Amino acid sequence: MEKNEKLPDPAKKLLNAALEARKQAYAPYSKFSVGAAVLTATGEMFTGCNVENASYGATMCAERVAIFKAISAGHKSIQALVVVAEQPEPIAPCGICRQVLAEFGQDAVVYMANTKGQIKTDSMRGLLPIAFVLPGSDIRK
Ligand code: THU
Repeated sequence: MEKNEKLPDPAKKLLNAALEARKQAYAPYSKFSVGAAVLTATGEMFTGCNVENASYGATMCAERVAIFKAISAGHKSIQALVVVAEQPEPIAPCGICRQVLAEFGQDAVVYMANTKGQIKTDSMRGLLPIAFVLPGSDIRK
C-alpha cells in the first residue's frame, strides 16, 4: 500500500480534488461520505460525491457522479479514477461503479484511498475482469 507522497502528480491532484468533493457528500442515512475524481483522456478532471436518497436504492455513488459529469460534459474516455472515504482500509468501488467505469475506462487506473492517506492502485481490468460489453456496442471501435 502506497502513501500519498509516492503517487504520481496527476493522481495527487485527483486525490485532493476527491477529498474536496467528499465534503459535499449528501449521506444523512449511512453517514458515510465518499469523494471521487476522474481524469479524462484529454486531461480534464471531474469530481463527485455520494448522493443518498430517502428511497435508499436511488442513492448514487461518488464514482458514478464523477463519471457521469465527465460524460455529460462531452467526454467519452476516462484514464484514471480516484475514490476516497474515511475507513480503516482504502475504499474499493462497488460492482455497479466498476461496470460503469468499464464502459468508459477500459484502460483506466484506479486509485483507492482512505483519509489517512493509504492508497491501493489497480486497473479497471483488474477490478472487473471479463467485464460485460454488449456485442457491437464498444464506442471506441
Ligand atoms: N458509496 C460510494 O459512494 N462509493 C462506493 O464505492 C461505495 C459506496 C456510497 C453509497 C452510499 O451513499 C454510502 O457510500 C454507503 O454505501
